[in-house]
Amino acid sequence: MSFLVPSRGAKIPLSILVLVICGFMFFVLLYAERISLMSSSTLSSNVLKLKSCPRKDLGSKPKDIVQEEKVREKKVPEESGREERSENMDVVDDRFEFDPEECNVAAGKWVYNSSAEPLYTDESCPYIDRQFSCMKNGRPETDYLRWEWQPDDCTIPRFSAKLAMNKLRGKRLLFVGDSLQRSQWESFVCLVESVIPEGEKSMNLGQKYFVFKAKEYNASIEFYWAPYIVESNTDLPVILDLKKRIVKVDSVEDRSKYWEGADILVFNTYVWWMSGIRMKALWGSFGNGERGAEALDTAVAYRLALKTWANWVDSTVDSNKTKVFFTTMSPTHSRSADWGKPNGPKCFNETEPIKDKSFWGTGSNKEMMKVVSSVVKHMATHVTVINITQLSEYRIDAHTSVYTETGGKMLTVEERADPMRHADCIHWCLPGLPDTWNRILLAHL
Ligand SMILES: *[C@@H]1O[C@H](CO)[C@@H](O)[C@H](O)[C@H]1NC(C)=O
Ligand SMILES: *[C@@H]1O[C@H](CO)[C@@H](O)[C@H](O)[C@H]1NC(C)=O
Ligand SMILES: *[C@@H]1O[C@H](CO)[C@@H](O)[C@H](O)[C@H]1NC(C)=O
Ligand SMILES: *[C@@H]1O[C@H](CO)[C@@H](O)[C@H](O)[C@H]1NC(C)=O
Ligand SMILES: *[C@@H]1O[C@H](CO)[C@@H](O)[C@H](O)[C@H]1NC(C)=O
Repeated sequence: MSFLVPSRGAKIPLSILVLVICGFMFFVLLYAERISLMSSSTLSSNVLKLKSCPRKDLGSKPKDIVQEEKVREKKVPEESGREERSENMDVVDDRFEFDPEECNVAAGKWVYNSSAEPLYTDESCPYIDRQFSCMKNGRPETDYLRWEWQPDDCTIPRFSAKLAMNKLRGKRLLFVGDSLQRSQWESFVCLVESVIPEGEKSMNLGQKYFVFKAKEYNASIEFYWAPYIVESNTDLPVILDLKKRIVKVDSVEDRSKYWEGADILVFNTYVWWMSGIRMKALWGSFGNGERGAEALDTAVAYRLALKTWANWVDSTVDSNKTKVFFTTMSPTHSRSADWGKPNGPKCFNETEPIKDKSFWGTGSNKEMMKVVSSVVKHMATHVTVINITQLSEYRIDAHTSVYTETGGKMLTVEERADPMRHADCIHWCLPGLPDTWNRILLAHL
């Protein structure tokens, strides 16, 4: 797990012991579970369930990056007083309607709307992983559901399930990536599923490939598990020893065959690269296997992998038929010091977004972001970057925190009482922030 992150911790024998125990749990759960809706829906938890094992923050990263970002740590967000909430009803709104060419969705603010209600709940939508079902898992307050993203220059249309399904008529929408991408896929399915009558929809959950179908629309909304996009030895089952993980940076064919023919492709990959150690990479077709692997700087390995992806897109995707999107990194909030609470329990207990517009935490790596921009810029195919990073940076309140499960089990009372160790400040509640990512995605379709 990328969350079991850093090698520095792993040098301590105790950490190794814990990793071994976690690994054992992982294998037991991976092999013992039935292939069924429930078990498949633990795919991501199979992959992510280890998150409660002690780990250092994702914040741990290669030294140069840590230093580069040190400067920002000092920044303290503005007081986020409740009185700042307003519905802005009587302010003249001169923002233009969303236009993908013109609107910068990354610049804006979160506005509290007490009458906003999500289009689904974790009770109404049967497709949400327990891992993301914060309400069901006992999250006591619901304010995090009522913040709406308002770009400075434009308005993003509200998500309309009918509109979305009409856009998807006769089409395949495919999300490819990691567990954050998986939560975006679940969000999309949940946002639309209520307008599709019972009997007209189906869900097929495989090991890595998940397909939701809406018969009357002849449409499918799919997810393909590929945490690095390219091949690796740790997609499934996950290898716990970070040093044994190898990413095959020049190879994508074993999975890309499932992606061919999709009409809308949405990719992401980030958090798995941020293990805090140099990435072991393998390339070329020689038979010496793992021995040929070389440790590369994370950003270098990331660039090679994205280049492989870009070559596949440029050589395979018919850009007259297919729209290609790339979702930027989803921020992690495992260091309360980033928002001025040096002793705070990570994202636990946070109930409001950060108001300081310049806020950027140590969980988002700008060097990795630059790799994305540069690779996409040099592609022949037009790829639309859905830039969710800045708007998600503000949402320290929207993570699953302790209202989640680990190893297929809800956190225990004791675990909940120890958020420093057990709060998940990587993933997001559903309904919640990924619904906003999809609102932006739909505006582009
Ligand atoms: C608040 O949410 C309600 C319900 O979705 C919506 O009708 C209203 O326009 C929203 N208010 C603002 C200011 O966006
Ligand atoms: C359904 O959609 C697929 C593409 O996803 C297309 O090939 C097929 O012809 C469509 N079928 C009908 C009945 O429209
Ligand atoms: C896409 O459409 C344009 C204009 O119709 C055409 O010139 C071009 O060859 C097409 N590209 C592909 C890859 O089919
Ligand atoms: C979380 O918030 C509650 C209520 O405001 C407070 O009593 C508790 O001490 C907080 N817990 C932590 C770990 O900060
Ligand atoms: C996304 O937005 C952030 C903040 O506005 C910006 O720094 C970054 O360059 C953007 N990323 C891409 C890939 O465009």
